[in-house]
Amino acid sequence: MANMAYASNSLPMAAITVLVILMPLVPATARAGDPAPIAPLMPHADVAAGARLAQNKCSACHTFNKGGINQFGPNLWNAANSRQAYIHDYHYSVAFRRMHDTQWTDEALNRFLYNPQAYAPGTKMTFPGLKDAGQRAAVIAWLHTLSDKPHK
Ligand code: HEC
Repeated sequence: MANMAYASNSLPMAAITVLVILMPLVPATARAGDPAPIAPLMPHADVAAGARLAQNKCSACHTFNKGGINQFGPNLWNAANSRQAYIHDYHYSVAFRRMHDTQWTDEALNRFLYNPQAYAPGTKMTFPGLKDAGQRAAVIAWLHTLSDKPHK
């Protein structure tokens, strides 16, 4: 009996192993462990709270002003809705250089900020992530203000 149970379990294990191996290759698509979509929260996002959160949690590594310097992380002016890894004079990780043609949509930012290492395995952004959806919405809404033509 024990052997039979083992045999019937081995196929799903193989399937799971294949999934785990393939997951880092598809960072732009939804996967298990991703946060729920952020879109429903965006209309009520608290921009002022996002500014405070960014000051507390992001400014150790990022500047936010137009033309600001790159620190450990790249300057974030215009990050929302731009292409990923868009700063020319910043040395991104290999993980980031691979994502170069993808857009920082709200949902991409939502997944990245929830768990940077899961979204971009090997990223230099050693930040554990914002687990609170309201905080992510606030920060994303505030990122939208960092633009000459703020959208939203
Ligand atoms: C410990 C330093 C650190 C902290 C804290 C940090 N970041 Fe980052 N961030 C980085 C680094 C480094 C990169 C570049 C990633 C790479 O090349 O792998 C990055 C990349 C990014 C990018 C992508 C920019 C691009 O050019 O594509 C965004 C957006 C971002 N961070 C937002 C945030 C926000 C919002 C916070 C706060 C909630 C935050 N980061 C906190 C270091 C940090």
